This record gives sequence, structure tokens and C-alpha cells, in this order.
Amino acid sequence: MRRKPNLLPRLARCADCMISAAEAPRGEWLSAFPGFDAIHAELGCGKGLFIRASAKAFPRTLFVGIERVADALVIAAERVTDSELRNVRLLLEEAACLPSVFAPGELSRLYINFCDPWPGKKRAKRRLTSDSFLALYKTVLAPGGDIRFKTDNTALFDFSIERFEALGFALSDITRDLHGEDGAGGVIMTDYETKFHSQGVKICACTATVPRE
Ligand SMILES: C[S@@+](CC[C@H](N)C(=O)[O-])C[C@H]1O[C@@H](n2cnc3c(N)ncnc32)[C@H](O)[C@@H]1O
Repeated sequence: MRRKPNLLPRLARCADCMISAAEAPRGEWLSAFPGFDAIHAELGCGKGLFIRASAKAFPRTLFVGIERVADALVIAAERVTDSELRNVRLLLEEAACLPSVFAPGELSRLYINFCDPWPGKKRAKRRLTSDSFLALYKTVLAPGGDIRFKTDNTALFDFSIERFEALGFALSDITRDLHGEDGAGGVIMTDYETKFHSQGVKICACTATVPRE
């Protein structure tokens, strides 16, 4: 991604929606930010089209976006700030920070949208749906909480379905043509999804739920 000009002042203007992992009210998000019923996090939120639309649609939910690339996150932060959304916090962090940001069971939902497919066996561990990441997600999701996963990449989708099942998630709403079956209506789209959808690329999606004991 091209380096964004004036990155630091632009991020500083959006300070109200930014938070660092060190400042995160781990275990106390809902009391630190009162007025919300649940916390949903998006991993690799990119430029933030999805998190902005989700936050507008669900004002009682606190949305936390995690993105490791500042040049992408600054666009998300500007979108959130300019929309005057109070129910979004953004972290410039790695996905692996989750357990230091959220207490066990604190999250109701995790969104993984169009994560990097990392083709080949050697790099499979870097996929956000590989076993070590799924084990992390299980610790921060509440029983009955879920992962909403979307991708254009069928190989990554097959891999992910297999790993979700192997790690004990219950799968539902599996589709390999999200927009073909429902039309685009009702689906909140990401930046990548908007591009793929306009090119006629089919989108795969599923929900992976942490079983209640
Ligand atoms: C292909 S883009 C998709 C962006 C957005 N979710 C969308 O659908 O438009 C993947 C994004 O995930 C971010 N990302 C990849 N691995 C990550 C990680 N381990 N932690 C945080 N962000 C990550 C990348 O920097 C990039 O912005």
C-alpha cells in the first residue's frame, strides 16, 4: 500500500476513536464505554468500510477494529471520525494481540473479512484461520459467540472450514455465493468485497460458533 501523506497528523485528528493495546480496558470494555450491549471485533479491518457501516447499523454494539497497517487504518479512522460514530475503537495492532486486549469470553463476535490467503504449506500458519489463531479466538469469545468469515478465495475457504471443524467450532450459514443467494441486499460489504462483487467474483461465507458447554 502506498505511504499516506501526513499520516501522523491525520491519525492524531482521529485520536478519539483510536486506542492502544496498553490502554485497552481488558475485561472492562462495557463498563469503560457504557451504553453498549456487546462487543464485536474485526480483524484486519483495512480501510474500514465494513466497520463503519456495521457501527451505523448496530448502535448498541461496540465495534473494535484491529489492523496492523497504519496506511490502511488511517482511512478507517477518518471514516469513523467523519461519520461521528461513538461506537467504534480502532487499534493499530497485530491480530495476535487479542488476548491482551480482551478478557476470556469478553467478545460476542469476531469478523474476519477477506484475510490474506497465504498460499502454500509453509506460510499456512500465517492465515488468520490457522489453528493457533483459532485457539486464541476461542479464549476471547464467549460460549455461543461466533466468527463471521468471508473470503473470495475458495482454497482458503476450504482450509478454514476444515480448521473451524477441527478446532470444535459449530459451522452454519455456509455459502459459496453469498450475494448470488441473497442478492447484495442486507449484506454489509467490505472494501475488498465491494471490488470483488463489482467484478462478478463469488463470495464464500460461513459462521463458526463456539459451542456452549
Ligand atoms: C486483504 S485485506 C482486507 C481488508 C478488509 N477486511 C476488507 O475486506 O476490505 C487484509 C487486511 O488484513 C490486515 N492484516 C493481515 N494480517 C493481519 C494481522 N495478523 N493482524 C492485523 N491485521 C492484519 C492487512 O494489513 C489488510 O489490511
